[in-house]
Amino acid sequence: MSTETKGYIRWLGHAAFEIKVYNKTILIDPWITNPKSPVTLDELDKVDFILVTHDHGDHLGETVEIAKKYDSCVVGVYEVTMKLAEQGVKNVLPLNVGGSIKLTSEIEVSAVPALHSSGCGVPVGYVVKTPDIVIYHAGDTGLFLDMELIGRLFNIDLALLPIGGVFTMGPHEAALATLMLRPRYVIPMHYNTFPEIRQDPEQFKDLVERIAPHVKVLILSPGDRVPIPLRI
Ligand code: NI
Ligand code: MN
Repeated sequence: MSTETKGYIRWLGHAAFEIKVYNKTILIDPWITNPKSPVTLDELDKVDFILVTHDHGDHLGETVEIAKKYDSCVVGVYEVTMKLAEQGVKNVLPLNVGGSIKLTSEIEVSAVPALHSSGCGVPVGYVVKTPDIVIYHAGDTGLFLDMELIGRLFNIDLALLPIGGVFTMGPHEAALATLMLRPRYVIPMHYNTFPEIRQDPEQFKDLVERIAPHVKVLILSPGDRVPIPLRI
């Protein structure tokens, strides 16, 4: 790692990511017990913030357990955070589609639409903004034309997109999403966790190289870290 590295993003398998920026640890969709997870719950560092895209089990994951252990602040759509509060999560930050909140003076989170379903509230994606990086986590979603708008509204450095198909976009749709979002880098996620969402990430990479050649595809293995800021 170069000396200018200020943090990192680490894939914990499925849709779970750990982001370390400005001395804060943020987890997105912390299903830490997923079959491909590189860590156990006990191996996690102190978690400051948890972002939940929607309340399906493979995204809500161990949110309640982790939040109780570390007194983490849980960010989610209003109805989801109310349910979590009922389950004993003390520190919640509700928001809704189109809204933004500051987690610290350097870290801001915006909720953007996701085309999917949920038990309560609505599913969302998140844009995490710091002075060093802008990360878009799409959550579970199908392809929708407003991704073009998300790309215009935020200058995305890194997009995290589902490619597993069946429950979300597959490689073709995700490649078109990449074209619309215009990030600098894209990381495929939400595939090969279980048999129904088996995919070849190289197929996604080939498609992106063909239709959005200006975007660099980073294929990670669970546990891999990408330094922040990203190198050009
Ligand atoms: Ni889902
Ligand atoms: Mn899912």
